[in-house]
Amino acid sequence: MTSIITVGIIGVGRWGPNLLRNFASMEQVSVKTVCDIDPGRLKIIQQRFPSIAITHSPHDIFNDASIACVVICTPVSTHFALAEKALLSGKHAFVEKPLATSSDECMRLIDAAQRQGKVLFVGHTFKYNAGIRAAKKYIESGDLGDVYLIDANRTNLGPVRYDTNALWDLASHDISIFSYWLDGTPKAVSAHGGCYLNKNIEDVVYATFLYENGIIAHVHASWLNPRKIREITVVGTKKMLVWNDMNLLEPIRLYNRGIDKDEGYQDTFESFRLSIREGEVLIPSIKLNEPLLAECEHFIECVRTGARPLTDGEDGLMVVKALEAATRSLRHDSRLIPIL
Ligand SMILES: NC(=O)c1ccc[n+]([C@@H]2O[C@H](COP(=O)([O-])OP(=O)(O)OC[C@H]3O[C@@H](n4cnc5c(N)ncnc54)[C@H](O)[C@@H]3O)[C@@H](O)[C@H]2O)c1
Repeated sequence: MTSIITVGIIGVGRWGPNLLRNFASMEQVSVKTVCDIDPGRLKIIQQRFPSIAITHSPHDIFNDASIACVVICTPVSTHFALAEKALLSGKHAFVEKPLATSSDECMRLIDAAQRQGKVLFVGHTFKYNAGIRAAKKYIESGDLGDVYLIDANRTNLGPVRYDTNALWDLASHDISIFSYWLDGTPKAVSAHGGCYLNKNIEDVVYATFLYENGIIAHVHASWLNPRKIREITVVGTKKMLVWNDMNLLEPIRLYNRGIDKDEGYQDTFESFRLSIREGEVLIPSIKLNEPLLAECEHFIECVRTGARPLTDGEDGLMVVKALEAATRSLRHDSRLIPIL
């Protein structure tokens, strides 16, 4: 019989209850304690889950020897301190994205997890999304040909945050997806942004990441937009793919479309010929999953087996390095900043 793994959750604002629901639904997991500094949030949790203990102090979770894993779903500015304490208390740590506010903090967490022999896991949810996974297969199989570019739109009206900007809040997902699809890391970035609602907090960011082989990956991240859009287009030499997370039943469309160079093409003005290829559109059937459940299950599996998480501390660090460089670009006239 498999033993029960006991979990404590810190932060049950907008997103935390989703993590709570998923962990609580797992047979081999027991959510023992939920912590939040807001008594109103704790009251709601107590009404829905009367058997789960509530506390306003994270130390009640850190000091409880029966709790093996701590799930941290608080604002990003608090991730590092809470995750470090969790790891140093001998717990496995599941930390929401982005892992921390600097690459230095991420490296300290990676180091603490290694020294303690514990799992450090980051909530890059989209790597557990069935549509994103299917798209990766199309890209890797060569079906699209060579990738020219990727273009992402992640917009909505709110939620507005005060401790981070739209880049760190939203584009963190897209950097994680780009790197997963391309099996690489961004090499440089240039970003523009606008602070319309709050001083020094970008509500709208346009960031262009450069990957190997000249691939451009662009993201428009905004919480100041009338429409909720979660869409990414991949343009390849042979085909084009569009992933639309708002279309739950048909998240992927594969367009057998492109612009071909005519036979006999030579790189001179006189012989320049292009022809538009208007092929069919394939809508593959994709078995729906709840990405967050898949993510929580993978975390528990890693805790049980010691396997390396798909979204481990290094993955979190890669995303934060890209976010740091994009922030530097925002602060320096959109200059192209290398990502080291
Ligand atoms: N993976 C995803 O798809 C996804 C989606 C949404 C949010 N998130 C991430 O989840 C985290 C939380 O986002 P949210 O939208 O729920 O924010 P939120 O502000 O709605 O909720 C945060 C909660 O944490 C509590 N809190 C703050 N500091 C605390 C502390 N020191 N100890 C205990 N509780 C504390 C607050 O009272 C609040 O209830 C962020 O890191 C965000 O980036 C991830």
